[in-house]
Amino acid sequence: MNDRSQYPGSKTDGIGDRFQQETKYDPERMDYQGLDWSRRPEPYKDYPSSLARIALPEPDLSSAPSLWNVFANRRSRRSYDAKKLLPISTLSTLLWAAQGISAQQGEFLFRTAPSAGALYPIETYLSVRSVDDLEPGIYHFRPQAFDLELLNKGDYSTELAGAALGQAMVAKAQVTFIWSAMVERSKWKYRQRAYRYIYLDAGHIAENLYLAAEALGLGVCAIGALFDDQANRLIGIDGGEETAIYMASVGLLKNHPRR
Ligand SMILES: Cc1cc2nc3c(=O)[nH]c(=O)nc-3n(C[C@H](O)[C@H](O)[C@H](O)COP(=O)(O)O)c2cc1C
Repeated sequence: MNDRSQYPGSKTDGIGDRFQQETKYDPERMDYQGLDWSRRPEPYKDYPSSLARIALPEPDLSSAPSLWNVFANRRSRRSYDAKKLLPISTLSTLLWAAQGISAQQGEFLFRTAPSAGALYPIETYLSVRSVDDLEPGIYHFRPQAFDLELLNKGDYSTELAGAALGQAMVAKAQVTFIWSAMVERSKWKYRQRAYRYIYLDAGHIAENLYLAAEALGLGVCAIGALFDDQANRLIGIDGGEETAIYMASVGLLKNHPRR
C-alpha cells in the first residue's frame, strides 16, 4: 500500500509510516465494541512452581536525594566497575521503582509506572552477573509476589552483550534488565493501537529505573539496539505473543561524577 492520498501530508512508504497512520484514533472511524471480559488475557505471568523462587527483600525507601537533583543529574552511564557486587537490597529497590505494586483497588493492583488501561503488558527479566546473594542467571520478576523466578543458571552477560549488538557495557553491568511485551494483554482492549501503548509503557518503566538508579548512585543505560530474536532466545520466549522490546544495563560506578 503506497497510496499517499489516503494519508494527506504524510509519507506512507514504510510499515512504520503506515502503522502510525493506521492506528490513529479518528472521530469518524471509532467502532468501540466494549471489552469481552471472558477473553481477558492473564494479567500476570508465572512460571511453573518447580522453578526456584527467590523472595526479594523489602525495597529501602527510607532516604533519597531531592527529586529535582535526580532529574538534573540523570544521565545514561555506560562505564561500570565489573568487579563489584550489587547488594540484593539495591536490586530490590530498583525493581520496585520500575514495576513495583504501589496501590490496590478491589482486585486491581497498580504499579509505580503508569500503564495504558492498567493492563501492564510489560514483563521484566534480569540477566544477573554480579549480585550479592543471587547466583548468576536469567530471572523473571513477579511484581505481584515481589520475587524472582530462576529460569536459567549461569552468567549470560557476554551472550546478552552480543544480543545488544555487541554493546560492551552489558558484559560489565552487574545486572541487565530485559523487558518483553505480552502483546495480547494490551491488544485485547486496544487492538493494533496496543503497540503504541506497549512502547510508551516500556519508556515509563525505564525512566523509573533511571531515576531510581540515579538516586542510588548507580549507572543505567537504556538499550533499544538489540537483535530481537537473540534476546528472545536468551529469556526463552517465542518473539510473537511475547517479544523482547527493550533492555537497560545497571552497573556500579567507579566514581559517580557528582558524588
Ligand atoms: C529508546 C532508547 C533507546 C536507547 N538505546 C540505546 C542503546 O542501544 N545504546 C546506548 O548506548 N544508549 C541507548 N540509549 C541512551 C541514549 O543514547 C541516551 O539517552 C541519549 O544519548 C541521551 O543521553 P542521556 O540519557 O545521558 O540524557 C537509548 C535511549 C532510549 C530512550
